[in-house]
Amino acid sequence: MTTTQRQDAPRALLRRIFTDVLPKHGFAPREKQMELADEVLSAFCRRDIFLAESEVGTGKTLAYLLPAVLARRGRLNEGKIPTALPDGSQAPVVVATSSIALQRAIERETIPMLSEILLQHEIIKTPLACVLRKGKGHFLCERRFVHFLRFTDARTKEVLLPLAATTLTDLAGAKNLTAYMKRHICVDESCGPDCPRYGECRYMRYLRDAQRGGYDFQVCNHNYLLADLIRRSKGQRPLIPDYQGVVIDEAHKFLDAARQMYGCSLSLPELTRIAQDIRDFTFSPGVPTADISRETDRILSKSRLLFQYLNREVPPEQDGDDGAERYATKIRERTEQLLRALKRISTRWTGCSRSGQWARNICSGSGTRNGR
Ligand SMILES: Nc1ncnc2c1ncn2[C@@H]1O[C@H](COP(=O)(O)OP(=O)(O)OP(=O)(O)O)[C@@H](O)[C@H]1O
Ligand code: SF4
Ligand SMILES: [Mg+2]
Repeated sequence: MTTTQRQDAPRALLRRIFTDVLPKHGFAPREKQMELADEVLSAFCRRDIFLAESEVGTGKTLAYLLPAVLARRGRLNEGKIPTALPDGSQAPVVVATSSIALQRAIERETIPMLSEILLQHEIIKTPLACVLRKGKGHFLCERRFVHFLRFTDARTKEVLLPLAATTLTDLAGAKNLTAYMKRHICVDESCGPDCPRYGECRYMRYLRDAQRGGYDFQVCNHNYLLADLIRRSKGQRPLIPDYQGVVIDEAHKFLDAARQMYGCSLSLPELTRIAQDIRDFTFSPGVPTADISRETDRILSKSRLLFQYLNREVPPEQDGDDGAERYATKIRERTEQLLRALKRISTRWTGCSRSGQWARNICSGSGTRNGR
């Protein structure tokens, strides 16, 4: 059987869903939407990259979700790639979008609605399952929660105490929490095997559940998808279980997300503040403060050089990709001088961990880019 023949049945089913099934539920057959869905399905079957742009309101969400359902439930990729997860279930499809509003709508409205329709018409046998993936800062940390409750004021306690009696994990589901409270009770960088609740707390249980193979869709934002890719490229444990396809919606924002995740940004006020912090720090006896002071001056002068160049020489309208290309050599030279200065000081830096770590992070960053 040729690839085209193999695609015939799912393509026919997809068309039937758009022309016969969805109209029974208030949807109208839309030629452009069907065309797009057909191409998406074909890309899933060919295991290929497919790039599409279409007008606002075409109905792109259904145009990619339906082929994705057919790919996963119809096992269209079986035999071409390892689609079985360790628990034997089919690998999910990842949907990455830019806005939380769209991620929520997909998770809470579109997929449940599709699931109901497809079940009703016996196109699927079990409901579609979807999990929304977010960074750790969105979830409640039991250890930090207990600690914060102990030391906080009565008014805050009154808001937080009821949470103790719930199984709430995602802080978005809690009422009346201020940003301040969320900051103090969310999972943060300190989460690790040293915690006595490691493996057992609600966040860990959520993670285990999200990794299991029962989900048809893993929905996340662009940054989360990229963070997963970065971890995979470093041989670290992925954030998302192995998937058989990925859809990047709102892809015009994907480049910005990639810049955030792969690049580093420098700002003159931040660099000046770091240099000032270093100057103000009291070093232990034996630390060569004259050297440190010299290095701090160097950071300041290199920062000014870089930003003077950006402000005076690079016209604002050249600030986009073309500008970055045209002025790249000079910008790179100056940025590298600055990074070298930061690196030198960060290797001597054993005191104030925040600035030191910040500088180390910048120095170990793989690339540089234009940032004013
Ligand atoms: N075939 C259809 N018939 C009627 N309504 C539809 C159909 N397909 C999608 N819709 C509805 O049209 C609206 C827009 O759909 P959707 O958000 O998927 O569009 P979009 O192409 O992604 O738009 P945008 O470019 O703004 O993201 C939604 O309310 C959706 O339920
Ligand atoms: S394991 Fe992590 S998330 Fe869970 S309680 Fe401990 S620190 Fe918090
Ligand atoms: Mg859309």
